[in-house]
Amino acid sequence: MRKTFQLRFEWDIVNIRSEVREIAKEVGFNELDQARIVQSISELARNVIHHAEKGYITIYTVEEEERKGLRIQVQDSGPGIPNFEELMTRGQSQNIGETSGLQQVEMLMDELTSIPVEEGTCVEVTKWLKPSQMLE
Ligand SMILES: Nc1ncnc2c1ncn2[C@@H]1O[C@H](COP(=O)(O)OP(=O)(O)OP(=O)(O)O)[C@@H](O)[C@H]1O
Ligand SMILES: [Mg+2]
Repeated sequence: MRKTFQLRFEWDIVNIRSEVREIAKEVGFNELDQARIVQSISELARNVIHHAEKGYITIYTVEEEERKGLRIQVQDSGPGIPNFEELMTRGQSQNIGETSGLQQVEMLMDELTSIPVEEGTCVEVTKWLKPSQMLE
């Protein structure tokens, strides 16, 4: 499974949220994880709209020998995120109420990385199914 969404306007996020929720449900995530995934995509998409204007989101399933999950790449051609690593490190010692969007995404997802691109930003997040959620 692989799907790409264009991100140009704030209201694109409304549609993306419901489609991503459906995909996460189909993959086997419970409602709580569906909410975590949807919230994370919203934050990353808002960043594109607010800090970079436009971009796109690609969502696909990842299957490894022992595990299965959902991976999402959010990419734009804006100015890039300054001090990404520092922002993430700082988030780990902050209270939840003080954390910013990206720092919250790191808490909600299992993996969050910034992929080097020539121009702009590419943020990749992954959520793995718990063994109890694995469908046959
Ligand atoms: N797609 C992006 N392109 C360029 N800069 C970005 C992008 N996403 C984030 N940033 C930069 O990283 C900073 C931190 O982003 P983060 O989402 O954590 O906080 P925020 O967007 O400033 O506030 P909020 O807590 O409302 O999300 C932003 O202020 C911005 O400078
Ligand atoms: Mg933000």
